[in-house]
Amino acid sequence: MSKMKKIFSALALSVLLAIPAPTLAAPASGKAPELQKWSFAGIFGTYDTNQLQRGFQIFQEVCSTCHGASLIAFRNLTEAGGPEFPESQIKQLASEYYIIDPELEEGERPAILADQWPNPFATEREAREVNGGALPPDFSVLAKARNLAKKFPMNFYDMATAYQEGGADFIYNLLVNYEDEPPHGVEIADNQQYNSFLGRGIAMMSPLMEELVEYDGDGVPLTVEQYAKDVTAFMYWMADPHLVSRKTIGLNVLIFLSVFALLMYLVKRRIWAGVKH
Ligand code: HEC
Repeated sequence: MSKMKKIFSALALSVLLAIPAPTLAAPASGKAPELQKWSFAGIFGTYDTNQLQRGFQIFQEVCSTCHGASLIAFRNLTEAGGPEFPESQIKQLASEYYIIDPELEEGERPAILADQWPNPFATEREAREVNGGALPPDFSVLAKARNLAKKFPMNFYDMATAYQEGGADFIYNLLVNYEDEPPHGVEIADNQQYNSFLGRGIAMMSPLMEELVEYDGDGVPLTVEQYAKDVTAFMYWMADPHLVSRKTIGLNVLIFLSVFALLMYLVKRRIWAGVKH
């Protein structure tokens, strides 16, 4: 093997080893996902505050009747980089929820900013009873726990563009691909609805429909696609709240290293200038 070839195969091997293992992925039987343009994609990606606010509204009004988000505290909704709601608004919102606390005389108290998002069900058993035996998973890191089967192993384009939004594309495609009926000859359980993205039944009925939630002004369409995109962006923020600062640090490090490399090159030229070689 030539030296060049050796270097290339070593590089290829290290790239292969660096590919993350696929997490729970859509089975290959479902239809191909439609990849979305996410504001938080790529090296320069950031969250869209308005979209996170709309996504929270969907979560709160629709999904949180079944799904918890135990790693999110009310105060996180006011912090920079997130939906950035005014503190007074979230204080008010928290006070409408109850935290169960057996130490108190009444057994419960209104939530405060420091409290975590309360689970809609007291126990797993209760959650399963209400949902025909199925358990609605906690939302906190769900956007990171799902991925697209077909995107792994990633190709060169995905690596070059730093594609990491498989979880977001999974959730979006799950939400917009419900069918009224399963295809001919496909059996699903009584408590399931057919989802053509998954290519099977799922024990969550389609949670979205047109004009289900009223957005405040700003002319955003009230469609299933828009709701799905907004709530998915919110779920992605929950799972990765420090994405923007992480990307900024990475970029600054790269800028620093390129300047530093140039300086080092000039220093080297200077030091060796008088030496014959
Ligand atoms: C009526 C209760 C209910 C509501 C409302 C609801 N879900 Fe679910 N969800 C479930 C249940 C039950 C499951 C588990 C399904 C299963 O295991 O087959 C689930 C599973 C999921 C999953 C995981 C699917 C997988 O890959 O395993 C996602 C993502 C999800 N829901 C998103 C949402 C979003 C987003 C909303 C709001 C727009 C929402 N859900 C509203 C009950 C609900």
